[in-house]
Amino acid sequence: MDAIAVLDFGGQYCHLISRRIRDFGVFSQVLSSDATKKELEKIPGLKGIILSGGAASVYDSNAPKCSNEILHAGVPVLGICYGHQLIAHLEKGKVVSGKAGEYGLTELKVLNHSTLLAGLNSTESVWMNHRDIVEKPPKDFDVIASTLHSPVAAFENAGKKIFGVQFHPEVIHTSNGNKILENFVFDVCQAKKEWDSSKIKENLIAETKRTIGSSRTIIGLSGGIDSATAAALASKAIGGNLTGVYVDTGLMRFKETEFIGKAFSKFSLRLRIVKAQERFFRALKGVTEPEQKRKIIGRLFIEIFEEIAEEEKADFLIQGTIYSDRIESGITQHSSRIKSHHNVGGLPENMKLRVFEPLKDLYKDEVRKIARDLDLPQEIISRHVFPGPGLAVRIIGEVTKEKAEIARKASYIVEEELKSSRLYEIAWMAFAVLLPIKSVGIQGDARTYKYPVVVRIIESKDAMTANFAKIPWEILEKISTRITNEISEVNRVVYDISNKPPATMEWE
Ligand code: XMP
Repeated sequence: MDAIAVLDFGGQYCHLISRRIRDFGVFSQVLSSDATKKELEKIPGLKGIILSGGAASVYDSNAPKCSNEILHAGVPVLGICYGHQLIAHLEKGKVVSGKAGEYGLTELKVLNHSTLLAGLNSTESVWMNHRDIVEKPPKDFDVIASTLHSPVAAFENAGKKIFGVQFHPEVIHTSNGNKILENFVFDVCQAKKEWDSSKIKENLIAETKRTIGSSRTIIGLSGGIDSATAAALASKAIGGNLTGVYVDTGLMRFKETEFIGKAFSKFSLRLRIVKAQERFFRALKGVTEPEQKRKIIGRLFIEIFEEIAEEEKADFLIQGTIYSDRIESGITQHSSRIKSHHNVGGLPENMKLRVFEPLKDLYKDEVRKIARDLDLPQEIISRHVFPGPGLAVRIIGEVTKEKAEIARKASYIVEEELKSSRLYEIAWMAFAVLLPIKSVGIQGDARTYKYPVVVRIIESKDAMTANFAKIPWEILEKISTRITNEISEVNRVVYDISNKPPATMEWE
């Protein structure tokens, strides 16, 4: 499959570049900035390289740099922002610190409608975010666009097919940004559109068959979309040899076990539901420290998986790791390490099972498309994310079976009310947190002394930042009334109005 590599120089937009290209229907992969020419050559179908933006100056002592040979790897190169400056620097042009930075929308004068800028107007609105500028292009490079502050806002060496743009074509603020990227991908690199969800699905099924063959395999099911999609793909590839394992830790969502049973009944996999509540509560007895809770839960998951793998005589473990999981763990192409199971503890290095991660190169929206293609239940596709340690991180202080029951019911009420008022889909997550304190209340003419519950409803695009949702008062009131009416241990409900930062989404 034709591919465009994006080297990550630390720019916040790096993954945006890759996603834009995938949206065009061409496979694109992000590699770390120190990827070598050899590593790039290993990418089958490599048609072009993009050097992303980044916060450094090429003169910083620890500035990320790629080797000059990448520019001459035999495929076209496009530098964006810092990438543009880096090309200038490596090819002996002149980069200087600008007198004033250029931030935000800027007018670009197109001086030469070369292949890269073909189809653009003679002036364009582009998004800038830089201080250093290219003052002089390298020898044999032509200036093809400029702005007031950047005399060399875009350059090219048409013969060598090396291009640079000081602005960011990948952000929506650059009106014709997509046109520029398309010019590069299709006209300069001549890449073919070979990346679409049905093809990806077929390729992944074939790859799963090839990798696993007739070995027995287990997959952990968390109820989330990633593991569900990986399981559905694998069930098509290896069917009878696949066992789905759902561990009921006692810390899962309300009626989750029934949900999992129903959701997976139509797939050809053997479903094993491991009832391990007592084991988890025993291990968590007396533990209040959040990280310790996570470690204990992670360790128990691993123990249980190893036991099941042995019983099933499995050689492989499939995980639903997706691209962003690997990015978040700082994992680049160089070290395809294993995602910690359920993001909680991490799998031991010496595990006998071989790990296969069919979704490891996909972004979330691509996983969603495949999940739809595979006919996964809509409820799984549109479900909110749920933390691996489950309710343990939503019960502050010691986790007990009784408290898990309270937190589970309260969260269910929050979700149910949002669904019935059609607000579920706009929220990133909506849940209840149980506090380890009590307060005074009055119910049925009697004084009570019971737990308060915190309702947390947040909106987010990428989980990195989040805002509390401005839910109508009537809905909050209904949630509060239902929680105190239906859960006898609770007499008070408070709404968390903190954003992230400074707070995190979860309380622990
Ligand atoms: P925070 O609380 O860091 O959460 O703002 C960001 C997202 O990550 C989820 N989260 C976890 N997921 N294991 C998980 O699998 C964990 O230990 C964990 N902690 C937080 C959280 O639910 C939110 O979606």
